[in-house]
Amino acid sequence: MAETKAAKVYVTRELPSAALDPLREVAAVRVWPGELPPPPEVLSAETADVDALLSLLTDRIDAAIMAAAPRLRAISNMAIGYDNIDIEEASRRGILVTNTPGILTNTTADFAFALLLAAARRVVEADRYTRQGRWKTWGPQTLLGQDVHDATLGVVGLGGVGLEVAKRGRGFGMRVLYCDSTRKLKEERRYGLTHVELEQLLAESDFISLHVPLMPETHHLVGERELALMKPTAVLINTARGAVVDQRALWRFLKEGRIAAAAIDVSEQEPIAPDDPLLGLDNIIITPHIASASVATRLGMAKMAVNNLLAALRGQVPPQCVNREAVRRWRRAQPR
Ligand code: DGY
Repeated sequence: MAETKAAKVYVTRELPSAALDPLREVAAVRVWPGELPPPPEVLSAETADVDALLSLLTDRIDAAIMAAAPRLRAISNMAIGYDNIDIEEASRRGILVTNTPGILTNTTADFAFALLLAAARRVVEADRYTRQGRWKTWGPQTLLGQDVHDATLGVVGLGGVGLEVAKRGRGFGMRVLYCDSTRKLKEERRYGLTHVELEQLLAESDFISLHVPLMPETHHLVGERELALMKPTAVLINTARGAVVDQRALWRFLKEGRIAAAAIDVSEQEPIAPDDPLLGLDNIIITPHIASASVATRLGMAKMAVNNLLAALRGQVPPQCVNREAVRRWRRAQPR
């Protein structure tokens, strides 16, 4: 792709001009103005003539969208996760896909820990209690929660965010277990973490925080069997992807008091359906997928997503390319 305004880019949501302006300098940029994602038919029509697409995790970029976009050479997803994109199909078509790793690691870990603390000490429930006028006195048995210090934290997936959550746990004086497909000896030594298998982690942890990407192997990684291994006092935190947990099973276990509480920032269906039974439970906190939502981090993600597109428009392999297997085909499709 030549760096001329002949390049066309579609952006699926309004982003700060500090991020988009550099893109506007080199390409004709169209932006979907809505607050909700563009409907599939609009996304398909809008991408039909573009060279590059800046998408969000709420946009499903499937084979049909790609088939209707013969010029499309790069998809920059403004998220670390890219399970909304058919990567295999993109690679087959020589379309480079990029994500925004690193920049959101600490912000997401802060939020995961905020959820952990809030669920442990029943912060959201206590706020509701106060607003409902139920605060009559200092009660020795009122809204008792669980201590975080000295408890055991189980981190499932020791990637960037998982490691930062583990470090926060150590800072709170917790014993930290982790499981991951690869052992991280350096991190174990440096931060005092213990590697265990998932089953042991589930059985021994007081707090379990999920940090794995959504893939066929991690779909419903935490289901009936895994929940049954947890302590009745366990608290489950999910800031990864909703479908990593079997939400029906979670509802049953929370309702029956077979685990103590949960806090989820992600849901199998997003937004969560208004009649989802989880919304009827007091022992779960549900937030609307905002773990990376700080002013600085969201701007950083937007800029990173744009930089990835700029690189692709210059004919360079973008720094955060997730499908390097597509590079050869992508190069062959470059204008000479
Ligand atoms: C991501 O980036 O994948 C998060 O879920 C949202 O920031």
